[in-house]
Amino acid sequence: MSAEAAKIVAGQIYLKPDSVLGLATGSTPLKMYETLVAVHETIGLDFSRVTTFNLDEYIGLSADNPQSYHYFMHENFFRHINIKPENIFIPDGTAENVGAEGLKYDRLIRSKGGIDLQILGIGQNAHIGFNEPDIKFEATTHKVKLDDETIKANSRFFSNVDEVPKYAISMGIKTIMLARRVVLLANGKNKSAAVYKAICGSVTPEAPASILQLHQDVTIILDRQAAADLPKKIVDVPITEIL
Ligand code: GLP
Repeated sequence: MSAEAAKIVAGQIYLKPDSVLGLATGSTPLKMYETLVAVHETIGLDFSRVTTFNLDEYIGLSADNPQSYHYFMHENFFRHINIKPENIFIPDGTAENVGAEGLKYDRLIRSKGGIDLQILGIGQNAHIGFNEPDIKFEATTHKVKLDDETIKANSRFFSNVDEVPKYAISMGIKTIMLARRVVLLANGKNKSAAVYKAICGSVTPEAPASILQLHQDVTIILDRQAAADLPKKIVDVPITEIL
């Protein structure tokens, strides 16, 4: 899964060295980042003209907090490659005015020409970024109250559940849908229900990832367990055809 995803990202950069990438955190893309670092170190994949925008950040955590997504990205990816610090963008979880920070973030993405390739994970409740199930889609980068399920799921990265921030700032659904290409990764049995909703369910804000059914260029990379609830006719398509 990670090798296929890394191949797509590397291909994107070879074809367009000044690509704008949308990046995700969480355990799912970790191995993809590791693979990209290896490609950088071994055959010199060049990130010097690449720009990145991360999906989200916890509200209240500063960039030097080890639980922040700033820290995660730096530790797991940015410090190992030759990306320019001024080309790295992550929503500011310490911004006093989160609404203004959201508007600024979307404007910045537009000013860089929009996202060429957006990497996504998926939450157990089918969230993308931190767009939680809701009665409507939030379009732009905005403040989110995290679901109890998300807080519980993400508490594995904190020493206890009370330490998990209750709010986050996340790219909105429109921000994500404007990316020219989307690659969603999921692995493990605990993602199979969310994957089913994303691919086979109705398009509804109650399963935010389902909106991707309306995107013109989405690649979904799954392991067998995450694909377990999908109809056999989807899973049995040879991988080369899916890709
Ligand atoms: C987090 C992030 C998402 C991520 C998801 C899944 O809450 N905001 O962007 O896709 O959870 O995380 P994991 O890959 O650790 O399962």
